[in-house]
Amino acid sequence: MPVVMPIFGTRPEAIKMAPIVTALEESPLLDCVVAVTGQHREMLDQVNDLFGISPDHDLNILQQGQSLSDIMTRTVDGLNRIFQDSKPDAVIVQGDTTTSTAAAIAAFYHGIPVVHAEAGLRSGDLFSPFPEEANRKITSQITSLHLAPTSTSKANLLAEGISEADIVVTGNTVIDALLTTVGKEIPFSDPALEELASSGRKVLLVTTHRRENQGGAMQDIGRALARIADAEPELTIVLPAHKNPVVREAVLPSIEGKANVIVTEPLAYGEFTRMLSLAHIVLTDSGGVQEEAPSLGKPVLVMRENTERPEAVVAGTVRLIGTDEDRIVSEVAELLHSQAAFDAMANAVNPYGDGKAAERTVAAVAQLLGVGQRTAEFGL
Ligand code: UD1
Ligand code: UDP
Repeated sequence: MPVVMPIFGTRPEAIKMAPIVTALEESPLLDCVVAVTGQHREMLDQVNDLFGISPDHDLNILQQGQSLSDIMTRTVDGLNRIFQDSKPDAVIVQGDTTTSTAAAIAAFYHGIPVVHAEAGLRSGDLFSPFPEEANRKITSQITSLHLAPTSTSKANLLAEGISEADIVVTGNTVIDALLTTVGKEIPFSDPALEELASSGRKVLLVTTHRRENQGGAMQDIGRALARIADAEPELTIVLPAHKNPVVREAVLPSIEGKANVIVTEPLAYGEFTRMLSLAHIVLTDSGGVQEEAPSLGKPVLVMRENTERPEAVVAGTVRLIGTDEDRIVSEVAELLHSQAAFDAMANAVNPYGDGKAAERTVAAVAQLLGVGQRTAEFGL
């Protein structure tokens, strides 16, 4: 049986790869060997534990304060050793992290076909998000099978000259992952969150980590949160802090000690999706959260200047607001105090998937390797 190797290294890749790993393990057509780079450690292991994934290979590359070059070189070198030993028939990489591009390059050097999940997202600005826009464009150049989440992402690939025969619109596996956890009322390990859940108070759920927001922009975000907390005593701000110390040093000093701000460690995925369901408004610079929150009908304010995920912006559930302190404060205030503004954004939309993306992924990989047939695409 052909051997397929999903390779991933960070939290969002793990969440989006987990449904693929599960579907591969259940497939009678393909064998699955999992490799992780360990670009993230705690945040990766948290997801693997939840989904019961025990990697066959773990490069354990994380170094505190790691540079992009560290991630690239340690991943290519580690995978090179694995591929010298035994080559899978195909690798699957996910998204736009440096793990995913480095893994694609390592496989390409060994003549192993690359399958790219979440292919074709484009912001149109090579430097924003950095380095993700460049990462995904590089990966597209050396990919054999492009799994586009939406027809928009497929159109981006066609516009770059990728052959239509090599593209399958699958939907995004993040919706598969979301549907397996949301609605399960998973208990919060932090008692403050359990108390908040039963209080009925309005929640502003915040996440931030983007490299291009680190520094001044993130300090602005921290100051904006402090002003919102002071101005809105009926609101509780929940901030599960990314493990990156650079993020914590920029954001936390402004909000520490405020009674209506709860800062937590990264939440286990099931806890996070429960908090997402409870939230009144979501404020984020995350890619994955931009895909999940709209399907739960939550207004999402995105602290970025552009997005490679325009579908929910077009649907009206997501608004790009940048990182200016005054703008963040005024956009949150508007959603809190204008019912019309809130209702206009609080629409459940599902442009990113229907929960069957992993099934379509496995079928497309089986066809690539000559042992199966593709199934109907997402949206058809
Ligand atoms: C990475 C990805 C980004 C993705 C994000 C998801 C790249 C270049 N960036 O960014 O595309 O959106 O993950 O969160 O691939 N750390 C830990 N433990 C962890 C995770 C992180 O200690 O489990 C700390 C380390 O100090 C590390 C720092 O966070 O140096 C930054 O991690 P890194 O993976 O380099 O970048 P992210 O900002 O997490
Ligand atoms: N997430 C989580 N716990 C948290 C914060 C986020 O499980 O405390 C999940 C979230 O549901 C989404 C993913 O992590 O699926 C997004 O990861 P992140 O924002 O780190 O990366 P990005 O999507 O921006 O690459």
